[in-house]
Amino acid sequence: MRAALLSGIHQALRITDLDTLKQEGDSCLVDVHYCSLNHRDYWISIGQYAGLKFPVILGSDVCGSYDFKSVIINPGTGWGPDHKAQSALYKILGLPENGGLAEQVLTRPDRLHLKPAHLTDLEAAALPLAGLTAFRALVVKAKPQRNESVLITGIGGGVALFAMQFAIALGLKVYVTSSSDEKLNRAISMGASGGFNYKSADWQKAVQSEAGLMDIIIDGAGGEDFGKLVKVAAPGGRIVSYGATRGSWNGLQVQSVFWKQLSIFGSTMGSDEDFSNMIQMVNDYKIVPVVDRVFPLDQINEAMQYMAAGSQFGKIVIDLRS
Ligand SMILES: NC(=O)c1ccc[n+]([C@@H]2O[C@H](COP(=O)([O-])OP(=O)(O)OC[C@H]3O[C@@H](n4cnc5c(N)ncnc54)[C@H](OP(=O)(O)O)[C@@H]3O)[C@@H](O)[C@H]2O)c1
Repeated sequence: MRAALLSGIHQALRITDLDTLKQEGDSCLVDVHYCSLNHRDYWISIGQYAGLKFPVILGSDVCGSYDFKSVIINPGTGWGPDHKAQSALYKILGLPENGGLAEQVLTRPDRLHLKPAHLTDLEAAALPLAGLTAFRALVVKAKPQRNESVLITGIGGGVALFAMQFAIALGLKVYVTSSSDEKLNRAISMGASGGFNYKSADWQKAVQSEAGLMDIIIDGAGGEDFGKLVKVAAPGGRIVSYGATRGSWNGLQVQSVFWKQLSIFGSTMGSDEDFSNMIQMVNDYKIVPVVDRVFPLDQINEAMQYMAAGSQFGKIVIDLRS
């Protein structure tokens, strides 16, 4: 089978012919049709991820065929019994175990879910990891109420766009940030009520004057702007952090956190129950993932660079059959 193999940090992924995989024990073999990228794949390739091991086949998000059916794979295994947090055994497809940037992938039958009927295989491959992360951050952690306001940062990102789609479906008033006015306009055309360019120094003042303080904030960027999120949060507001693309920052104004009675939640991926509920929501509201671009497997390095540059609006998908 053809696979994109990562042999070490800062190496290009190499398209390699490997032996065909065999189904053993309680494993099952999925023929991969499409695999979407996540920022995780990039972090691993530059060595900024825990538990690195090489060589490895990246790719957490698969749509493929198993037993003549179109399936998607829940990329998380070993969440454990506590819905509040994953166990120490929690693993994500595509490191340490080989993932979906290959023509075949091994998983377990209990990780398989039928592809939502209203989605193509291409669209369904965009869903698992980002959809799950957005669902838990917004629905499980923030527990939104209809008509509440929500600010979603970095709307070009895969998780951010799912969070926006879920929030609109739930009747929230959605505002977004982005580095690109074009992406802000696209979000508004999809139903966002307004957008703010985080490249402008005082973007948080514009949020306050044009949209008011936010009941909920969903953030995957972290960094210095995290302090601004505390400023735009309404009294009693909830901030959910699921990522730190911009790293950490030690200038948080703690006084605003307690005086405004804020709740700050951390959120990572989601439990098996969250995954099933996320698919249910996608089916109920007929949500269609936003796919930015599709690359053939032999252009995997171009696709990784495209993601690293942050040019995308939505998910980048690799076609394993081209
Ligand atoms: N905890 C978890 O379970 C989990 C799961 C998935 C992802 N993550 C993390 O969450 C982050 C996003 O992941 P992803 O896969 O959605 O990434 P992605 O699709 O590659 O999107 C990254 C986006 O980050 C935005 N961004 C960059 N700098 C920003 C800033 N200063 N302020 C606001 N937004 C900024 C950009 O938005 P614009 O293009 O609009 O400017 C960019 O499109 C990554 O750090 C990833 O590792 C965590």
